Amino acid sequence: MNVGLLGLGTVGGGTLTVLRRNAAEITRRAGREIRVTMAAVRDLDKAKMYAAPDLKLIDDAYAIVDNPEIDIVVEMIGGESPAKELILRAIENGKHVVTANKALIANHGTEIFAAAQRKGVMVAFEAAVAGGIPIIKAIREGLTANRIEWIAGIINGTTNFILTEMRDKGADFADVLKEAQRLGYAEADPTFDVEGVDAAHKLTIMSAIAFGIPMQFDKAYMEGITKLTGDDVRYAEQLGYRIKLLGITKRTKNGIELRVHPALIPARRLIANVDGAMNAILVKGDAVGVTMYYGAGAGAEPTASSVVADLVDVTRMHTADPHSRVPHLAFQPDTLSDEPI
Ligand code: HSE
Repeated sequence: MNVGLLGLGTVGGGTLTVLRRNAAEITRRAGREIRVTMAAVRDLDKAKMYAAPDLKLIDDAYAIVDNPEIDIVVEMIGGESPAKELILRAIENGKHVVTANKALIANHGTEIFAAAQRKGVMVAFEAAVAGGIPIIKAIREGLTANRIEWIAGIINGTTNFILTEMRDKGADFADVLKEAQRLGYAEADPTFDVEGVDAAHKLTIMSAIAFGIPMQFDKAYMEGITKLTGDDVRYAEQLGYRIKLLGITKRTKNGIELRVHPALIPARRLIANVDGAMNAILVKGDAVGVTMYYGAGAGAEPTASSVVADLVDVTRMHTADPHSRVPHLAFQPDTLSDEPI
């Protein structure tokens, strides 16, 4: 499978690194080689560190989405435009799409999925929600027998990192935000993190998948952490609580509720002890009860882990061999070896 990357920033760089480091395992699991042959970057000079003989670095993203040799386009530019135009053009050209772009899926997912359905191509977006936690696959596949009742979680790493540092080190909000940016956790526009917008994007996507509804980002209530002070965080601690920015979506008799806001959580609860840039999501299904998913919600390689998982999924589904469509049989017999997969 020939892959073209749109963007080679934090997540794009992580994706290349993981694909290169784990090439043998990934090829076995996907059933065929996944080759990144092109990457479109804004600054060719900066991207030189990823140069390789089989990778063409260019500055024109359309040269990837219009290239008949490319099978899968991975969009990691972020933001709505030109990401949306590029993705729609890739779909129109019959390419599968993998994206980490939560703002785009939350706002235009319904239109993008409809276009993909018309063309019979796949759009995969595991990396758009909760970084390295495979929560989309968990909701859509693992919990598919359930009527989902509610989802609640810490789904923004930057704000959880800020709240943790404010509590443990008495650190200043602005300083910790700068550190989160340096570590590659924060969005290009960090107000999306601290005002709850990023969490609302992710909540919208989970809600649509869990409840089978269109993306309803415009209906989400959003309140971030900018009004919280160090005193709020410390007083909560003294009273036996932790402050966490939660995203909550649930069925109510008036429809599906979506809200993001800081919440006081008793310190003895598991989710109150999710610290740093980690994410945790609770999902309540009628059959399974409450399940919990925990892991790195941001950062280069955790997010790349989800991008590459989608690349493997798309590659398996794309293959003409029907046996390869069963995930645990997704290898070619001649690639079998004694090494663990
Ligand atoms: N800015 C996001 C966060 C990145 O802090 O969670 C991962 O989506």
